[in-house]
Amino acid sequence: MDKYAVFGNPIKHSKSPEIHSQFASELNEQIDYTAILAPVDGFVNSINAFFVDGGLGANVTLPFKEEAFNYADLLTERAKLAGAVNTLKRQDDGTVLGDNTDGAGLVSDLLRHQVQLQDAVILLLGAGGAARGCIYPLLQAGVKHIVVANRTVSKAQQLATLFASYGEVTAVALNEIPHLPYTGVINSTSSSVTGDIPNIASNVVAQTSWGYDMFYSDTQTSFLNWIATHNSNCQLIDGIGMLVGQAAEAYTVWRGKSPNVEAVLERVK
Ligand code: ATR
Repeated sequence: MDKYAVFGNPIKHSKSPEIHSQFASELNEQIDYTAILAPVDGFVNSINAFFVDGGLGANVTLPFKEEAFNYADLLTERAKLAGAVNTLKRQDDGTVLGDNTDGAGLVSDLLRHQVQLQDAVILLLGAGGAARGCIYPLLQAGVKHIVVANRTVSKAQQLATLFASYGEVTAVALNEIPHLPYTGVINSTSSSVTGDIPNIASNVVAQTSWGYDMFYSDTQTSFLNWIATHNSNCQLIDGIGMLVGQAAEAYTVWRGKSPNVEAVLERVK
């Protein structure tokens, strides 16, 4: 059977094996997809062993996305711009392609929620790896202007410089966010993990049509709760659809078929 796997540390709670098995079953395909715990200092050995053993493709999660970027023999444009790889594919000539499907997963989830991206003005909170991975796909989807706001403003400035030739990307500190008519706000910070909320003025989100938290949990995230308090008309979306969306994109990269996200999402929820 065609072999795939997700590599991470920790990996026990990964939903990827369940998601990919369901994609395959929806498409009447048979794949063998496992979760592999790579030692923190042993990613390259683990992934080498997997490919030598006939593995066709892998997902890569924390903390190995940058190592996967360096491991790949060649990279897609979106992976180069993300500076990280979450999808590896062994090609027919034996070389390994590195891709990043996280941003595409976000864009497809926003579009699935009927969010208009064409000419949108987006406030992007955070300037870490998650933010970097979604800027190019958002601009490609027609977003007009992205304001990157980060606690450490220098990191936001680095992203604005990196993406300057792809569209309008500006950088600000969290406490200096300009009052633009934002179409939507995306939280890419890791603040929701601890139940914290980025320290921004509430009137910044008072008029936005939608709010997206890349984080997800069984209950509404602290960030989405906070938006709801200040904007009762805001469409609130958490990151579970992005997770399934990036997986669907990876499946397509590996096998050339597009899985049914909606059906699998219902079950994963
Ligand atoms: P990831 O790969 O998930 O993006 P990361 O690269 O470690 O993770 O980035 C985490 C992001 O969350 C950063 O933008 C970080 O802000 P700093 O660059 O100033 O550290 C942001 N972040 C984490 N906790 C936060 C909090 N409580 N409030 C605001 N921003 C926070």
